[in-house]
Amino acid sequence: MKADDIDILDRWYHCDISREEMKELMQRSDLKGLAHTVAFFGVLVGLGILAYRVIGTPWMIPAFFAYGTVYCFLNHLMHETHHRTVFKSIWLNEFVHWVSAFAHGAEPIYDRWGHAQHHTYTYLIGNDPEVITPRPADIPTLLGPFFGIGIIKPGPIINHAFGIIPPADKELVPESDWKSMIWSSRLWLLGYALILISCFVFGTILPLVYTLFARFYGAFIPTLLNDTQHVGLEQNVYDHRLICRNVRVDPITSFFYWNMQYHTEHHMFPTVPFHALRKLNKKIKHQLPPMYPSVWHAYREIIPTVLRQQNDYEYHVTPQLPKAYPAAPQEAPVSEQEAPLKKNKTDEAPNVWVSVPNAKDMPIDDVLEFRHNGEQYAIYRLGDGYHAMSNRCSHAGAKLSQGFVIDGQIECPAHNGRFDIRTGEATLSPACDKMRTFPIRIEDGEVRLGLFDK
Ligand code: FES
Repeated sequence: MKADDIDILDRWYHCDISREEMKELMQRSDLKGLAHTVAFFGVLVGLGILAYRVIGTPWMIPAFFAYGTVYCFLNHLMHETHHRTVFKSIWLNEFVHWVSAFAHGAEPIYDRWGHAQHHTYTYLIGNDPEVITPRPADIPTLLGPFFGIGIIKPGPIINHAFGIIPPADKELVPESDWKSMIWSSRLWLLGYALILISCFVFGTILPLVYTLFARFYGAFIPTLLNDTQHVGLEQNVYDHRLICRNVRVDPITSFFYWNMQYHTEHHMFPTVPFHALRKLNKKIKHQLPPMYPSVWHAYREIIPTVLRQQNDYEYHVTPQLPKAYPAAPQEAPVSEQEAPLKKNKTDEAPNVWVSVPNAKDMPIDDVLEFRHNGEQYAIYRLGDGYHAMSNRCSHAGAKLSQGFVIDGQIECPAHNGRFDIRTGEATLSPACDKMRTFPIRIEDGEVRLGLFDK
């Protein structure tokens, strides 16, 4: 994040939805995650066996196409586990994340940082690393991924495996993660080398056909869906409704696509797991542009837009927003004075104790925002009492008071990073710098926040 972007996440438009509704929607479930994941891998393995049995017959073409297509949807499983919302248990998210990232051909640590950046700067050109092609759309760059070209990016994995971290990657990935990124890149290269070696050992190309080659011959349908998400829409605006496209798909596609047809909802509220996106859509759809009735309807717009952009660089589609919910103002809000993010002065005695009037009535395991002298704080209530820290997340400045408490940690609403509420320590990336904490005491029945005013 750039130093002057502390309030960038405040600039994004968010649909109205109550905190209670959001709390219900963001609940994760190991059972739902496992049911979906096991069924997904069941279909993948079943298609793999089927394809193996028909090798040498004309049926092998559709069979491998079907296998490769499902294989490429592992990209979307990797994406969901980037956010750690598929399962309630973090270890399950991480395990599936690493497996799906390996299958997809991506190193998971680097890719997760890149994806966090995509969420901070979605289609803000020059800052978003996941823009497929800025305007005017470059047709070869757009067409390549349909055939798997340009999806796997071996450059960063090879560089990182050899300990080379280019300046742009140093800016993206914090130093605390360099070592693990280097070692996981080495592990990845070793894994891919083993696949290659197994082809020679067993005298068959099948290990490659079932893994990395599938990223090419199965890429068409997943890419067809991916390109509906942003291509041809606005860019450089702080309103996901203008830069994301929601497209209705059939239930089978929705299953493999991990509900990413609700793309606007996902970008606006990334803490909501895939299985709750439909419910979220029902609650806020009156605030969104109409959903495209089908992929075909989306391409009826995308293809002419891309073609027209070849001569008219500025041309793009602006989705129709409901009159009652106009576009977000594009000026940055006036930045408030912020509590310094990385400085922890908890060892000093506070010299002011400020009353936090609403804190008394807070439910346990909740958080509220408190402002004092132009600074903002997140006040927490856990089973053992009250706690406080700066409100701006030390990763990219989201307001932690808009997140939710999970097992004594606050989950950041922007990129799902987490902090220990009692100590301020970062517990899950992309959070990595400790938050500044403040003491709290109860005095005359009032909750008071200890500050260090001059
Ligand atoms: S702003 Fe990224 S984890 Fe908080």
